[in-house]
Amino acid sequence: MTYDDDADLDLLVVGSGVAGLSAAVRAAEAHGLRVGVLTKGDLEQSTTRWAQGGVAAVLGGDPDSTDLHLADTLAAGAGLCDIDAVRVLVEEGPGRVRDLITLGAAFDRDEQGRLELAREGGHSLARVVHAGGAATGAEIERALVVAVRRSAVAIHENEFALDLVIEHGRCVGVRAADATGATRVVRARHVLLAAGGAGQLFAVTTNPLEATGDGVAMALRAGVAVADVEFVQFHPTALHHPQMPRPLLSEALRGHGALLRDTNGEQFVDELLPRDQVSRAMTRRMLELDVDHCWLDATGLDHFVERFPTIASALDEVGLDPSRDWLPIAPAAHYLCGGILTDLDGATTLPGLWAAGEVACSGVHGANRLASNSLLEGMVFGARVVEAVERGVDTAQPTGAMRSVLAVEGGSPIGGRAVVSPMTPPALAIGAPFAAVDDIALARQQLQRAMTAGAGVLRDSASLSRTAAVVDLAVGVACSSSGAAAWELANLAAVASALLTAAHERTESRGAHTREDFAAKSPEFATRLVLGGEVRPTPTTAGRL
Ligand code: SIN
Repeated sequence: MTYDDDADLDLLVVGSGVAGLSAAVRAAEAHGLRVGVLTKGDLEQSTTRWAQGGVAAVLGGDPDSTDLHLADTLAAGAGLCDIDAVRVLVEEGPGRVRDLITLGAAFDRDEQGRLELAREGGHSLARVVHAGGAATGAEIERALVVAVRRSAVAIHENEFALDLVIEHGRCVGVRAADATGATRVVRARHVLLAAGGAGQLFAVTTNPLEATGDGVAMALRAGVAVADVEFVQFHPTALHHPQMPRPLLSEALRGHGALLRDTNGEQFVDELLPRDQVSRAMTRRMLELDVDHCWLDATGLDHFVERFPTIASALDEVGLDPSRDWLPIAPAAHYLCGGILTDLDGATTLPGLWAAGEVACSGVHGANRLASNSLLEGMVFGARVVEAVERGVDTAQPTGAMRSVLAVEGGSPIGGRAVVSPMTPPALAIGAPFAAVDDIALARQQLQRAMTAGAGVLRDSASLSRTAAVVDLAVGVACSSSGAAAWELANLAAVASALLTAAHERTESRGAHTREDFAAKSPEFATRLVLGGEVRPTPTTAGRL
């Protein structure tokens, strides 16, 4: 088996999380396609590895149903989910979980051997399968990495995907750089961007260092349509501790009965509301009390260490005992609900380019993702990309969220509005000297702090404008130098600029986007804000979703 046989690739997967790796395995093992995987770290390094709670899927019987899962997802999404995409998610999800089990992923089971189901915020019932208590992502990643290493013909680790290569209006590969900065083109018939999210936009995040929005930035530079990027989900219960990424105290703890308290010890919010509502309530309470954290009281939970061994050991490392101590927590950037606009098969507005997982905007999350729907989305839509490629599909269809920009014949696009960013993302500097690491690190920190202060849980017009000025400075630093640190900074700045533009334009509060100067939800904004790509025709008033 060779791991660098790039000749004649059918599918090049960029990224190594659940969406990319599950697609790679399916393409290679179920369809015999020649698959390559390219990732800027090791294969094992991805945000998936950090995912705790689990995978929401209707695997138990009555009283749960896919209709209930659908209803919960739509309610969390605050009016912006694409209902067809959500139906696909909830109906195909259980099958994809079974595929993972077949592949060797071991989910937690009860004494009778039945899958254990947990409850999380926004779910009307317990339907979250998990592994190792709250180490679900690590187990999924483990199983997928083993399968990919045996089935992909090319695996490029520690290679940075810089840009899409486009010939005659079609994506034919990516330009990538190795650690020395040397670049080359990896060509393939189809490219799947599964490069994850952008939590590193913020100073306080649960995401690993590599979550720098590279895939979304590549799309923005290539003029591929991107949508819903103003919706960043903040997880309410990240441990308030200098460690970065912030250790997550899984929502499953609240599902098992852990309580939220303010610094006076008072309960102030229903722990099982969707995340956007809990994070907002916490942020407001922290501002009122002029404090920087709240408490998670898990002292009433039985068998904490047995149920949540990884969380227990993270707490132990910082000297906290959940049976005795209240745990300091504060919201942290956790998940980008929007991304590269796709149809129901993961096709983007650029033929030959597909997107799945956190990098994509499939329409399943709307304005706020339901807990534990993200691993599910990755596996469902990654698989759909492969099936579409196998059927010979080549271009996006007017289905799912793609209907924001593509019309069915004789109709017009629905639920989309074009937004033009004041900043065209500049080209990455290639071949320039590598920058002084300290300069880049400082510019990244400044960008992150500005984003947290001005574009975090609460925003307004003035805070967004102040943040944009800092992002412009970061562009100047990033684009005069080469190397992975500079490219990551340029990508962060490109995504930040898109986010700020959309957040500015959306003069309402909805889901994870809270404008202090526009507190109400507005029917005028029951629409997806789309950057880049060709919107045909550009609706001046919002369409219905
Ligand atoms: C959690 O365990 O709270 C995080 C899971 C998710 O992001 O859905």
